[in-house]
Amino acid sequence: MDPVGIGGDPLEELKSFLRFPSISTQPEHAPDLASCAEWLWEKLTAIGLTAAIHSTPGSPVVLASSPHDPAKRTVLIYGHYDVQPPEPLAGWTTPPFEPRIENGRIHARGAADNKGQILAHILGVSETLREKGALPVNIIFLIEGEEEIGSPNLEAFLREHREELACDLVAISDTAMGPGNKAALTYALRGIAAMELLVRGPARDLHSGLFGGAVANPATVVARLVASLHDTDGRVLIPGFYDAVRPLEPWERAAAADLEKAAGGDDAIKELAGVIELSGEKGFTTIERIGARPTAEVNGIGGGYQGEGTKTVLPKEAFAKLTFRLVADQNPAVILAAAEEYLRAQTPPGILLEITTGHSGAAYQSDPNSTDGLAARKALKEAFGTEPLLLRDGGSIPILATLKEILGVDSYLLGLANPDCRIHSPNENMLIENFLGGIRMNKILLEELGKAS
Ligand code: BES
Ligand code: ZN
Repeated sequence: MDPVGIGGDPLEELKSFLRFPSISTQPEHAPDLASCAEWLWEKLTAIGLTAAIHSTPGSPVVLASSPHDPAKRTVLIYGHYDVQPPEPLAGWTTPPFEPRIENGRIHARGAADNKGQILAHILGVSETLREKGALPVNIIFLIEGEEEIGSPNLEAFLREHREELACDLVAISDTAMGPGNKAALTYALRGIAAMELLVRGPARDLHSGLFGGAVANPATVVARLVASLHDTDGRVLIPGFYDAVRPLEPWERAAAADLEKAAGGDDAIKELAGVIELSGEKGFTTIERIGARPTAEVNGIGGGYQGEGTKTVLPKEAFAKLTFRLVADQNPAVILAAAEEYLRAQTPPGILLEITTGHSGAAYQSDPNSTDGLAARKALKEAFGTEPLLLRDGGSIPILATLKEILGVDSYLLGLANPDCRIHSPNENMLIENFLGGIRMNKILLEELGKAS
């Protein structure tokens, strides 16, 4: 059987897709990203679309479209074929790029984020074309290979191809279902702003006995800087951090409370996170803190001796990697500038603070009650059998705000990942029923969106 042919076993096709170690953050995997893009090109071509691979300064972008019928609406389906690194490898029951099916789930890096989800859409389009010979809307697939590193080349690509990408709306499955694996429309995602601090002190590592007490220790300084980000109530202390935050509407607080109940309260979230106690900003529920409030997080911190035993050293430098998760209407550049000013003001004499900024993207919100929002909700309901919950999710897809800016259209987030999919962690998995439900959902969605003109 042709592994990328039409009408093959959906799970076999997903397995082939998952075998590529398409890790965008590790340069040695560039050839795997290229092969994965080719696999997609073949697949999209085999189902009857016109596909092309576009090279960029980073990973290639795969575009595919159905013949353009001006009488029909156009739906752009966005997804990504790159994945997060599988590390720590010791956490995996079986190797991350050798997909394994067990207990109704397929396990592999990328199963949920985002290969299973985008493939469900491709297979939905394939089935409709096979069954009906034509689609109810014009389709454009835009599948990139750099989402997990902040889509550094996609904005330029969008600008260059804006005419070819003209559409009425964007549909994306790159988020999770609601609590209890219930269907959900995600109407808001947080934005992100990343920065790395390098704290430099003495010209070389020093003997901590001979120099300790005489010079500032970079590891201590980095710890102080990181600790200065929050007060003991979990509020971020950077001046102006909350200034632009859009307050929660009463209906949103009510929706969050319903969700909290559906989620089984804090206990279920503790279980998912593997913690015995939750923590965060006072005055907001856990669901609100995750979806609707901005945060400052330390993603990595280090410096000094990391080996076995004691080494009496005063390190010459130390680092911290930070990300801020943002909500509407915070501006990532403004937040990064405010953070930099706040951190510099606390840096003691004799220490050089080097700051580099990383990927950023504004938060995104769409209206779940718009005509297309209602069409999306109907497709979820029919495919999964329950009235979809309305979610604000805490993760980010930084390109959403850019899609709005450049193409002028809204994005609707129809997440298919099971909440316990272990996204970005070892043993990432996707429930097979979600994957197959996603294929059904795509078919209904395109039908509904076709009517919504
Ligand atoms: N699919 C996720 C985003 C997501 C997951 C949103 C679950 C909501 C619920 C996406 O692939 C992702 O991980 N994005 C990164 C972006 C970053 C690397 C710029 C993120 O949120 O950390
Ligand atoms: Zn991800």
